Amino acid sequence: MESTMDIKTNADLMNLLDSLLREPETFWDQFYEDREKPIPFFKQVPDENLVSYLSDYDIPHGRVLEIGSGPGRNAIYLAKQGFQVDAVDLSQKAIDWGNERANEEEVEVNFIHSSLFDLKVDAESYDFIYDSGCFHHLAPHRRVSYLSFIKNALKVEGYFGLTCFVPEGPLGGAVISDREVYEQQTLHGGLGYSKERLLSLFNKFNPIEIREMRETQDPTLFGVNGLMTALFKK
Ligand SMILES: C[S@@+](CC[C@H](N)C(=O)[O-])C[C@H]1O[C@@H](n2cnc3c(N)ncnc32)[C@H](O)[C@@H]1O
Repeated sequence: MESTMDIKTNADLMNLLDSLLREPETFWDQFYEDREKPIPFFKQVPDENLVSYLSDYDIPHGRVLEIGSGPGRNAIYLAKQGFQVDAVDLSQKAIDWGNERANEEEVEVNFIHSSLFDLKVDAESYDFIYDSGCFHHLAPHRRVSYLSFIKNALKVEGYFGLTCFVPEGPLGGAVISDREVYEQQTLHGGLGYSKERLLSLFNKFNPIEIREMRETQDPTLFGVNGLMTALFKK
């Protein structure tokens, strides 16, 4: 949005606030440029909490959407468990990598190159929506659309799973107010969310389980310190 333009729509307002912060698409494309970087979540294994959700709760193995899927380690796992998987990510580099991985693994994942905020889905489309590591990178002014997207896209009694930074954890998790985000014009690499903050933000959903991710040495799982995990039901 040009700085001289008047705000006439909500989209203009969102775009103006976006423009105060880091441009995410270029950032994430560059982030995925080098696939050999020692980034723990580049390993193609699913989150330990996601695996436990499928064994501990009655999540229907129907349609699932992964938000901010990156190269699809969780999406591919879900496809292997029999879900029909859509996976959306802002970065074309992540989508390309995800498609390559899914081909190698011989599973079907419908990778979609888009911002979540431009994605159009029918109401009550999904049994399960999962976000591992995207929400904490979203600016506060995008939260309202994020929450209403999930509420609208989930079937009645559908599940929503989330993995995000704890406050001031070893991986990140800035503890600043929403106001400070705009005053300082940065998310400081991602916001930290406590259990109480998640309960307050997702108060239109029923909390099923909120806990820190469990560290694990199991090579088939991703489990590290510093992440909060949450499962809600619509
Ligand atoms: C920390 S990475 C996590 C990737 C993946 N979920 C994983 O755990 O391996 C965050 C991802 O969110 C994506 N992302 C950020 N903002 C987004 C948006 N508005 N819509 C869709 N994806 C977004 C980024 O491109 C990036 O791939």
